[in-house]
Amino acid sequence: MTPQIVTLTVNSRTHQVALGAHITLLRALRDLGYTDVKNGCEKGDCGACAVLLDGKAVNSCLVLAWQADGAQINTNAGLGTQENPHPLQVAFADHGAVQCGYCTSGAIIAAHALLEANPAPTETEIRQALSGNLCRCTGYGQITEAVQAAAAVMQKVKGG
Ligand code: FES
Ligand code: FES
Repeated sequence: MTPQIVTLTVNSRTHQVALGAHITLLRALRDLGYTDVKNGCEKGDCGACAVLLDGKAVNSCLVLAWQADGAQINTNAGLGTQENPHPLQVAFADHGAVQCGYCTSGAIIAAHALLEANPAPTETEIRQALSGNLCRCTGYGQITEAVQAAAAVMQKVKGG
């Protein structure tokens, strides 16, 4: 199969890469060094590979890289920096929602998409929105609390 040139814009950085049509976005991103995007199951079951694709949370193992040609892709690492982390990243750390960390990037991406659509979700809405993000360590309570805490901080910031 002849590779085709695909333009992937990740965390505001543009890459032009030659890729076979069967290469998933997950594989392309990890090969480009975005290893915060985790490979869990490669079949859409765990959410570890979630990224924002034009603002929408998707499992990158279920997207072919060429389908993301020209789109804006954001990974968890692109949401904040060490000096200026995103409120979700702070809240996950503060609430013990990061243990082994394997699910963390995907969970933060799912939470980010939720808070964009629904800035003040209920606990049930948070649990529903993150139901595709499997975590073997936390029992989900700390993750839910972290999303609630981040939502409160983000609302405060927006409200001035
Ligand atoms: S690696 Fe994509 S959903 Fe599990
Ligand atoms: S923190 Fe280990 S899988 Fe979620």
